[in-house]
Amino acid sequence: MSDYIIRAKGIKKYFGGVKALDGVDLEIKKGEVHCLAGENGCGKSTIINVISGFYTPDGGELEIDGVSYPKMTPQQSIAAGIQVIYQDLSVFPNLTVMENLALNMELASGKKFVSKKRFREIAEEAVAKINFEIDLDEKVENLSVADKQLIAISRALLNNAKLIIMDEPTTAITKKEVRALFNVIRDLQKQNIAILFVSHKLDEVFEIAERFTIFRNGKNTGAGDASELTQEKFTYYMTGREIKETPFIYEEKPGAQKVLEVKNLNLKNGFKNVNLSLGEGEILGITGLLGSGRTELVQALFGYHKADSGEIYIRGNKVEINSVKDGIKNGIGYVPPERIVEGVFLPQSIKENISIEKWDEWAGPLGIMNEKKIEEVVNEWVEKLRIKLHSIDDPMNTLSGGNQQKCVLAKWLILDLNVLILNGPTVGVDIGAKFDIYELVKSLAANGLSVIIISDDIPEILSNCNRVVVMRRGEIVKEGLTKDMDEASLAEFAVAD
Ligand SMILES: Nc1ncnc2c1ncn2[C@@H]1O[C@H](COP(=O)(O)OP(=O)(O)O)[C@@H](O)[C@H]1O
Ligand SMILES: [Mg+2]
Repeated sequence: MSDYIIRAKGIKKYFGGVKALDGVDLEIKKGEVHCLAGENGCGKSTIINVISGFYTPDGGELEIDGVSYPKMTPQQSIAAGIQVIYQDLSVFPNLTVMENLALNMELASGKKFVSKKRFREIAEEAVAKINFEIDLDEKVENLSVADKQLIAISRALLNNAKLIIMDEPTTAITKKEVRALFNVIRDLQKQNIAILFVSHKLDEVFEIAERFTIFRNGKNTGAGDASELTQEKFTYYMTGREIKETPFIYEEKPGAQKVLEVKNLNLKNGFKNVNLSLGEGEILGITGLLGSGRTELVQALFGYHKADSGEIYIRGNKVEINSVKDGIKNGIGYVPPERIVEGVFLPQSIKENISIEKWDEWAGPLGIMNEKKIEEVVNEWVEKLRIKLHSIDDPMNTLSGGNQQKCVLAKWLILDLNVLILNGPTVGVDIGAKFDIYELVKSLAANGLSVIIISDDIPEILSNCNRVVVMRRGEIVKEGLTKDMDEASLAEFAVAD
């Protein structure tokens, strides 16, 4: 008997000229939690498709539970005990929980008529496997992503799974749901089921994985025991770059004029009696749960919402911010979390996306754009921000998420801002681009720009901001210098009732 559920050696998979996998190894022991990490596009989903029999590799050897498969079909993979929880979870939203759980089983068994009673039995068996409490008659479309995920997991268990592969399961769920998922994973492990967990979050790898494998550009860069992994090694394996964070040191100039002051600001169903100030070159972090009012607050500063009462001062002058136009006029820039829907125009060129807010200013008297000026400034920022692209005339959607995020930043940085607000600037962004974004923000602050960062990621706030406020239910419940705070106490403030 083999100790390994999966032994993949030298696997190659090419798509035309793209070497998605260029001879990678992946070995997963029975019953272990194994983490597969790597930046977007490094080949993680491709190897999953090879292991599950959807792609025939162009080279290499694949062994499942000691049996070698020169050409494996998806059915053989399932029969060998491999189950995949895809990122889209493959659930049917308009069917009930019960139907989602039992349908595959009953169809696979070739029955022409399905009995409701049998359906319920199968569904009950499935949810019992992970102690998942759920109304079996609920429509799946009414459930949270986390519950859909648990449905996919319990469904997978009906097939005598020996290995469950989870492709980036934590990207769309909350911290609390991640905790619950990890408990399920630990339970599965007790039943000697191995887990391949795809993630690029180091804290998750440390917490849940016993061993890890890291890919970069379709090649192995590291593998071993998770206990031997450090932050430095992890980021190096992922990015191929030595990443060293520069600490952000801010010293308040005594008596200096505040760049932004907010006094008793209120917005119904948003936030209450908010008082805030921001000095020149300061980076202020705002954290709190979704629904804590943090987004509404910064949106009111930018003019998305008009506050019901209270005052906003920019460099000592009281300003009225009733619209986004007012926000921009007062030098406030806002980078939203959903850049894909709010911040960028995907089919438009990179150049247009970056320069759009300057068009009025750079147009001549007949409305003719000063193209040369535009290109000069755009190129300057592309260079400063290390935006990876072929040409600034390419459409925005040719760029990776991290590079798109950098373009949104560039769009604001070419304006003369008083305050730059970043809402969740690194959600879904690769580790290398994340690092670039923070290094850039710190250097901008060192040159006098005042920045507000909203983030769930408390370690990120602690290492990049000099001050932090925690919001809960629309109010500021804690404020202080990051050097006086630690992760655990901040997290507690954000959730405590
Ligand atoms: N079906 C496909 N056709 C063409 N290229 C693909 C296909 N699937 C993946 N690729 C390419 O292969 C590389 C690896 O992709 P993928 O395995 O999805 O990466 P990851 O899951 O690590 O983000 C990427 O460059 C991607 O664009
Ligand atoms: Mg993928």
